[in-house]
Amino acid sequence: MTLSVQVMGDDTRPGVLDEQTNSAILAARAAAELPARFVWGAATSAYQIEGAVTAGGRGPSIWDTFASTPGKTWRGESGDPACDHYHRYAEDVRLMADLGLGAYRFSVAWPRIQPTGQGPANPAGIAFYDRLVDELLAAGIDPWPTMYHWDLPQALQDRGGWVERDTAYRFGDYVALVADALSDRVRHWSTLNEPWCAAFEGHMSGRHAPGIQSPVAAVRVVHHLLVGHGLAVAALRSRGEAEVGISLNLIPAEPADDSPGAEDAARLVDGQQIRLFLDPLLRGRYPDDVVGDFARAGAELPIVGDDAKLIGSPIDWIGVNYYSPHIVLAGTDPRRTSPFIPGDAVLSVRTTEDVTALGWPVRPRCFAALLRRLHRDYPGIPLYVHENGAAFHDVVSAGGEVDDSDRRGYLARHIDVVREVAVDGVDVRGYFAWSLFDNYEWAEGYRMRFGIVHVDFATQRRTLKASGRWYSQLIKTHRQTRGT
Ligand code: FCB
Repeated sequence: MTLSVQVMGDDTRPGVLDEQTNSAILAARAAAELPARFVWGAATSAYQIEGAVTAGGRGPSIWDTFASTPGKTWRGESGDPACDHYHRYAEDVRLMADLGLGAYRFSVAWPRIQPTGQGPANPAGIAFYDRLVDELLAAGIDPWPTMYHWDLPQALQDRGGWVERDTAYRFGDYVALVADALSDRVRHWSTLNEPWCAAFEGHMSGRHAPGIQSPVAAVRVVHHLLVGHGLAVAALRSRGEAEVGISLNLIPAEPADDSPGAEDAARLVDGQQIRLFLDPLLRGRYPDDVVGDFARAGAELPIVGDDAKLIGSPIDWIGVNYYSPHIVLAGTDPRRTSPFIPGDAVLSVRTTEDVTALGWPVRPRCFAALLRRLHRDYPGIPLYVHENGAAFHDVVSAGGEVDDSDRRGYLARHIDVVREVAVDGVDVRGYFAWSLFDNYEWAEGYRMRFGIVHVDFATQRRTLKASGRWYSQLIKTHRQTRGT
């Protein structure tokens, strides 16, 4: 089936078709052309949705501490109560089943499993994920847990956190406990979510927990997270036939102009955002230019012995989180909170053209270029889009409806990119929308809504948005068309 369509986006003039018609056509095309076994999912993370921060003996995490520190998050908001998913998981799984999701990506809260970051598993913590996994399987939904989505037990932070190598070993132990409990039913495991954010936003810009601003710390954290990943892969492999991967935010960098300074800033950002992770994971060594940029700031990767082999242990796929590109120039961030190293090398340029509520540029062509480049530069590794979505300021109508056409359009244009590159032979096997729910958007608090399901945080009422209806229809049409 071939459909001819002018796609609204950064490559064509908008307005030929209205957004709703455009999105309907793109959905029909994706349903017709994506492979039968393509995985449709949605993603969340523990701290962003669970709430219940002291239930079942959960210990405090670095995000509880950070959010309760004045001035760190929007209006001091924290992940309590978020979507109260801890108590409402059964209702939430029913909603996922109604949507037709084939897979659900969630994260396991380390402080529920080990309230102080070490020692035996806390039975109440394990029991929660046991129930969730059983509920998902009963609904025909494949569970895709992520082992670390930024909620380090505070007790480990008190001993230095990821700056210290010991935390990587603690992480390996924790993953083993979760695997012991769930590997009889869970097949797809992601070790880490966006180690770039944990390292650079957590320890360089300080915008995320634990709020440190030090290039030396950030670089140590990068390496220890990757060592932790390697240990987690080993723990999972030794417990069965698991499929293991890692979820990375592979944000492409665009020079804002053609000056040599902008080109070099784009190289530096590309290095720290993409190659710093994919090279050691898939090619066995860190990129030389990135090591050089770190050295300019007096920072060094604390490599010990056979670390390269551990970090490069074979994995089964890469989870690609993509929202938007960085647009960069050489220079110093006036707020002095650059996440990049050295701190005075990169100025992120803001644009007002086709942006989301967070000011993130909507650029589906950059997504296409990224997926093609991953396929070219790192051949042979399957890709899953593990996060993709957009924050917009939703309006709830008097009748309780959310007609989020901007989000629907965003999803349609990006899923169309996945279709396009898959047809051209890029091995992309699934798509997880970020996010299933409006939730706690870290330092932005609750004001930035990414959900395809609206959450009224006062009443915890869930309402499917227009984007969610569209996504659900796409999944169901794909299933019918491909006979799965
Ligand atoms: C990603 C995070 C996710 C969410 C989205 C918007 O960086 O993995 O938790 O905050 O951005």
